[in-house]
Amino acid sequence: MKQSLENKSILLIISGGIAAYKSLELIRLIKKSGANVRCILTKGGAQFITPLSVASLSEEQVYTDLFSLKDETEMGHIRLSREADVIIAAPASANTIAKIAHGRADNLASTTLLASDKPILIAPAMNPEMWDNEATQGNIQMLEQRGITMIGPAKGDTACGETGMGRMSEPEEIFGALLSFFYERPLKGYKALVTAGPTYEPIDPVRFIGNRSSGKQGYAIASALFEAGADVTLVSGPAALPDPVGINTIRVETADEMLNACQSALPADIAICTAAVSDWAPKDNKTSKIKKRRNHTPPAISLKENPDILARLAKDSPNRPDLVIGFAAETEDILDNAREKLARKNCDLMVANEITEAENVFGADQNHVHLVTLDDSEEWPRASKKTIARKLVVRIAKHINNPKNNKENTLNVRRIEAAE
Ligand code: C5P
Repeated sequence: MKQSLENKSILLIISGGIAAYKSLELIRLIKKSGANVRCILTKGGAQFITPLSVASLSEEQVYTDLFSLKDETEMGHIRLSREADVIIAAPASANTIAKIAHGRADNLASTTLLASDKPILIAPAMNPEMWDNEATQGNIQMLEQRGITMIGPAKGDTACGETGMGRMSEPEEIFGALLSFFYERPLKGYKALVTAGPTYEPIDPVRFIGNRSSGKQGYAIASALFEAGADVTLVSGPAALPDPVGINTIRVETADEMLNACQSALPADIAICTAAVSDWAPKDNKTSKIKKRRNHTPPAISLKENPDILARLAKDSPNRPDLVIGFAAETEDILDNAREKLARKNCDLMVANEITEAENVFGADQNHVHLVTLDDSEEWPRASKKTIARKLVVRIAKHINNPKNNKENTLNVRRIEAAE
């Protein structure tokens, strides 16, 4: 069956930017595909294209005003959102993005977005400096954490004469993203288990042994799996990140709790262990705070080994997920070390992080990884953890949907064509 948007309702928000002219083509593509498209044109947007062009192409009234009595009685901001299957902001200016990030409601577009209970897609368009600005990047990160899908922007020449990131994606690409939003769920019906964050191993009621893991990569992978249609359980150690949208998030503290939560989440088709599980835990967790006493030598903490969750999940057993992926943070000989771990822990793929002083990935938003199998490796250049997560999920989907793969096969990157 050919994919189309037949009978879908799209609410398109067109904000200020020269890329607004491309939205006219987007409206045409959406209409041609059988969907109904209602448009909100902001004041800025109306500086670049006219309400008449938008109305002619969408064959609908164009909504511009928050306080227009006529619009509010006929179709207020709440109804505009409720009657849509999805809301897409294209172009989304830096200003509109900032408003969504901070919950502003000072025009029809921002009020509708704030009042929305619908999935939101955003196609940013702006000058490269504005895109690179920390304020915009912070806002984008906030939106992504809330489950809003970004389309682009693309790299290239912009209308202001500068070159860089900030061009709005082409209408065909935005239309394609809309199609995949409705149809492409390559992991639909699959169950995925992700571990993320550090573990805290208590010494006494106030002290613990922990580590610097932020959980960002694992959370991004959980979200990307969810976007791809998987039913995701995220078992997270203490991380300062909100529960990702649509994901069953189980919060734990210790390695033992993480192992129990993972075992309760089985069976699963895919397991991805990104957690930085503490290798050791204090042998006895004191029930009262260890006192610091004058002239006493510091207390000795004896340690016991923690369970290796990845190795337990990957152990051959009827419950073993079809695909088990580990992460290995390495400072040297990263490929050899990752491969040794892969073999020892019986997993199918290791994603190896390079930890050098210059490339400290703990807490960072970017990552630089190598995909390592028993007989192969592939380097992925530095990119946002979100991008790495999406690329990894493309690989997983290709592996899972490849009839040649079965429980005995391991993921062989050579056999799978490049994701992008
Ligand atoms: O041995 P190392 O800690 O470097 O291995 C890293 C991989 O093993 C990661 O995927 C991590 O989540 C997993 N791991 C685990 N349980 C442990 C130690 C590591 O799941 N106790």
